[in-house]
Amino acid sequence: MEATSVTDMSAPIDPTTTAAWARLADLEASFAPDLRAWFAADPTRATRYTKQLADLHVDLSKNLLTDELLAALVALAEETRVLDRYRAMLVGEHINTTEDRAVLHTALRRPAGAEPGLVVDGQDVDHDVQEVLARIDAFAERVRDGQWRGLTGKRVTHVVNIGIGGSDLGPVMVYEALQPYATAGIEARFVSNIDPTDLAQKTADLDPETTLFVVASKTFTTLETLTNARLARDWLWAGLAERGALGDADGARAEAVAHHFVAVSTALDKVAAFGIDPTNAFGFWDWVGGRYSVDSAIGLTLAIALGPDVFRELLSGFHAVDDHVATTPLEDNVPVLMGLLNIWYVNFLGAQTHAVLPYAQQLHRFPAYLQQLTMESNGKSVRWDGSPVATGTGEVFWGEPGTNGQHAFYQLIHQGTLLIPADFIAFVNPAYPLEDGGQDVHELFLANFLAQTKALAFGKTSAEVEAEGTTGALVPARTFAGNRPTTSIFAPALTPAALGQLVALYEHITFVQGVVWGINSFDQWGVELGKKLALEIAPALGGDEAALAGQDASTRELVAYYLAHRED
Ligand code: F6P
Repeated sequence: MEATSVTDMSAPIDPTTTAAWARLADLEASFAPDLRAWFAADPTRATRYTKQLADLHVDLSKNLLTDELLAALVALAEETRVLDRYRAMLVGEHINTTEDRAVLHTALRRPAGAEPGLVVDGQDVDHDVQEVLARIDAFAERVRDGQWRGLTGKRVTHVVNIGIGGSDLGPVMVYEALQPYATAGIEARFVSNIDPTDLAQKTADLDPETTLFVVASKTFTTLETLTNARLARDWLWAGLAERGALGDADGARAEAVAHHFVAVSTALDKVAAFGIDPTNAFGFWDWVGGRYSVDSAIGLTLAIALGPDVFRELLSGFHAVDDHVATTPLEDNVPVLMGLLNIWYVNFLGAQTHAVLPYAQQLHRFPAYLQQLTMESNGKSVRWDGSPVATGTGEVFWGEPGTNGQHAFYQLIHQGTLLIPADFIAFVNPAYPLEDGGQDVHELFLANFLAQTKALAFGKTSAEVEAEGTTGALVPARTFAGNRPTTSIFAPALTPAALGQLVALYEHITFVQGVVWGINSFDQWGVELGKKLALEIAPALGGDEAALAGQDASTRELVAYYLAHRED
C-alpha cells in the first residue's frame, strides 16, 4: 500500500477560518429547529436521513439537521481534509505527532491476504498481525479444549484479566456484550482497580488450581496492573501451597507462574522480568493505542472465553466499518456524518455532553468503554502542532442502558435547560426472548426505545396538554419542548460482527471530530501528571516526613487526616 504524504498537513487547518465554518455560523444565527414541521413538510425525511453501515441501520432523521446544514457540515469535512487524514492513518503516516507514531488499529482487523499488503516503517504489519492472531487462536483453543492445564493438571475454569484503561475496558465491555457466546464453560473476570478490594472480591471464590491470569498491559509499567499482578501471583502461590501443591524445590514458584500466568504487552522484555515465560506472551505494537486495542492481543481473554471464531467475527465487524469510511461518499458516510453532527452540537449549539443509551442490557459497559475512547482521545486543548485549539473540543460522553436511565436522568434530557444529543442503540432480536403473560417482553423494551426518541423529538405542546384537561401552572410543567436530538442505531442482533461495527463506528466518529478540531486524538499526556504525583505522595501516606513536607497545604491536611484515622 502506498503512503499518502501528510507533510503538507503538519499544521492543522483552523476550522474557524474555513468557508464552511462561516456558513455554519450563519445557519446557527437564524437556526430555529422544528422537527415536527420538518417531518410534516418532508415525508421522505426519515428515509433520506437513514443510512446503512454494514449491519447497522442508522436513523439520523431526529437530529437537528437540514439539507443546507448537511451540505455545510460535509463542506467542513472537505475543507479540513478529514478523509485525507483518514487515508494517512490507514497507510501508517505518523499522525500521532507527539509520540511520533503511526496509528494503525485499523491494521489489526485487515483480513488475511488483504491487497496491497501493509508495510510501515520497515515492518510487515500484515504478517505480524496475522502471526499473533494465529498464536491467539492456538492458545485459546488449547485452554478451551483442556490441553492447557494448571500446575496440578486441572483444566482452566476461570480466566482473570488483569489490566486497566484500554487493557480492561474493551475486553470487559465485549465479554459482557457477548455473554451468550460464552459456552465453553470458562468464565472471565476482570481486575483493574488498584483498590485491593477489586482483586480480593474477584478471586474470593476462585480455585487457584483452575485459574489462569492474563496480565494485559501495553507498557507493562502501569502501577495498578503490576501491583495487581503481583497480588495475584501471591494469591496463587499461597493457594497452591495451602493445597500442598507447591513443592519446595527452587523452581516450584516459577513453574506455578508458567502454568497460571500469561501476558499481553508491547514490552516483552518486561514480561520476562516479571517472571512470565516469553513463550506465554502475546505481543502488539506501539502503533496500537490503549483505547484502540481491544482487537489486538489485548482481546486474548475474549478469544479464550468466547472462542477464537467469535473474536475473528468481531474483527470482521470492525473492518467493515473501516472500509465504509474509506469508500463511502461523505454524504452517506455514517461515522463522518455523526462526527460532524457532534461538531455542530458542540461548537455551534453549545452541547457539552453526549449521552449514549443502549437499549441492550448486554451493553451495560459500553458507555464506560466509550468514555475512555472519546474523552482520552479528544480531551485536548492544543492542536497536533502544539498551538492552542481554536474551538471547544471533546464533550463528555456518558450513559446507562435503557430503561434504567429513564427512571434516573432522562427527566433532564426531556425538560432540562441543557442540550444533550443522545444516541439510542437497540437490537431487533433479543439474546434471551422471554414472555410475560403472553406479552413479548423485548417488544415492550423496544417500545420504550421508540417512545423515548419520539418524545424527545416531537415533545408535547401546551395545547396538547390542555386538551387532556390539564389547567393552570401544571400546563407548562407537563409540556415538552421537543427538538432534543437523537440518533437511533438499530441492528438485527447483537452479534460479534455488529458489536465490532458499533465500536469502530465510535472510533471513527472520535477521529472525525479530532481532525476537524486539529487535535491529536492518539496521545494522552493529560493522565501523566497524576500518575507521577501519586508515586511522590505514596511515601507520605507511609509516614515519610520529607515526602509530606514537599506537599501543598491541602494535601498535607488530607494526609494528616489519613494518618490520624488509620487503623493499624
Ligand atoms: O493512563 C492512561 C493509559 O495510558 C491508557 O491510555 C491505557 O489504556 C492505560 O493507561 C493502561 O496502560 P497499559 O496498557 O500500558 O497498562
